[in-house]
Amino acid sequence: MRAPEAGWAHAEGPRGPSWLRQPGEVNDLVPALWSKTAHKNADGALVVGGVDVRDLVTEHGSPAYVLDEDDFRSRARAFRDAFSDSTGWDVYYAGKAFLCTTVAGWIAEEGLCLDVCSNSELTVALRGGVDPARIGYHGNNKTTVELRRAIDVGVGRIVVDSFHEIARLEQITAATGQKVRVMIRVTAGVEAHTHEYIATAHEDQKFGFSITSGDAFEAVRRVHTAPGLDLLGLHSHIGSQIFDSSGFEVAARRVLALHARVAEDLSVEMPEMDLGGGFGIAYTTQDDPAEPAVLAEEMSKIVAHECKGLGIAEPRLSIEPGRAIAGPGTCTVYEVGTVKEVALDGPQANRPVRFYVSVDGGMSDNIRTALYDADYSCTLASRRSEAPPVLGRVVGKHCESGDIVVMDEFVPADIDAGDLLAVPATGAYCRSMASNYNHALRPPVIAVRDGVAQVVVRRETEDDLLATDVTPGSGGSRDGVQVDGVQL
Ligand code: LLP
Repeated sequence: MRAPEAGWAHAEGPRGPSWLRQPGEVNDLVPALWSKTAHKNADGALVVGGVDVRDLVTEHGSPAYVLDEDDFRSRARAFRDAFSDSTGWDVYYAGKAFLCTTVAGWIAEEGLCLDVCSNSELTVALRGGVDPARIGYHGNNKTTVELRRAIDVGVGRIVVDSFHEIARLEQITAATGQKVRVMIRVTAGVEAHTHEYIATAHEDQKFGFSITSGDAFEAVRRVHTAPGLDLLGLHSHIGSQIFDSSGFEVAARRVLALHARVAEDLSVEMPEMDLGGGFGIAYTTQDDPAEPAVLAEEMSKIVAHECKGLGIAEPRLSIEPGRAIAGPGTCTVYEVGTVKEVALDGPQANRPVRFYVSVDGGMSDNIRTALYDADYSCTLASRRSEAPPVLGRVVGKHCESGDIVVMDEFVPADIDAGDLLAVPATGAYCRSMASNYNHALRPPVIAVRDGVAQVVVRRETEDDLLATDVTPGSGGSRDGVQVDGVQL
């Protein structure tokens, strides 16, 4: 649910029934925004994975990320079925959306590969039991230490992003005699229709080799001639939260054209190609994402058509969905603390008001609203209410006025301290981008399935925070940590 867009806060004239919702309507869930098992019970309480969130909060506290395991796994399987089983593409789950050892294990069990972009993500993946050969390693600034470890553990592919990185890989492999499989990240010059900070294939940004400037071709040539590097193919990721397939189409056309040129000019048939992630999900009723089967059909048609036109064989393809697998299956449950009513501009009679509903989390557990103007919705999760709906804004408890979780949503007028409020579709880029701002303790991630709740990431404690706090003279170390014997 979402407030009408056009100037509702400054509406001329009395509020009309066209946008004033009916009492009781706030009790309903909009299924498209919630995980597959989510529903409200007779008390009006939210139940996910067979677990009543009131019980969950009683046991584990709030806020908490509630991860519907069936939802996560079924979306992973849907991508695998649509892309791997039907078209032979590989599906790499983009772990940056959300990763912990349990989820890494689910990814392996569901037969997906995994994309990581830091040594710590790699550690989590390995601890979760992911076969290193099924891991792709990304990043625009991988250090020599990171590259060396990735090679040592045997990752299946490293997606190179710069000439410096190619040189580093050449040095490492020359010194050790190791071989590494490499993809080349290219920028296809596409401006995906998404927020500026998450569009990544236009030219003026940090990622990848430009096709237009000739750098991408030069990178291919360098990798091809480097003895320790095994050239797999090109990689393109055009952005995130994209609904319109035309961006993928243009990118695929340009990347395949380069692929064909490499075959022609260098006589090199690159065996693989990756078209990245970026598939959008529904945060509000305005969003209408496509099913994986539809995406698979559209994308394989585009590739087949282009390859035919270019007279080349289709490379083995892969994609890297993150948000579309992790996003919809998790909601964040908060407890309401204070509620403040603010009069907005408008006619004196029947003046519009906004309820500022403060919850016990905020921008530390969901930075996306503040960072990207992201839209979210919410629902009263602990009871039914027959009170009339009023316009609400869900805000956190941080010392910042931009600390907003849900910009506009109808909430029942009797919403009060102690109520639970749940925000859907927080599975991607919320816990993974969470911070300790104001020394907030990051919430737990609790997986629910068949009536059982299992903590997969526990709540942080003050001891966790203080563990990195070095008191002068205490003898504590300023150095980074070591993982598997490697200084990070
Ligand atoms: N592959 C590459 C190379 C990527 O950089 C990304 C995301 C993905 C795959 C997965 O994209 P997805 O399917 O999840 O859209 N923090 C932002 C999103 C940043 C995306 C970064 N790269 C957000 O909260 O919207």
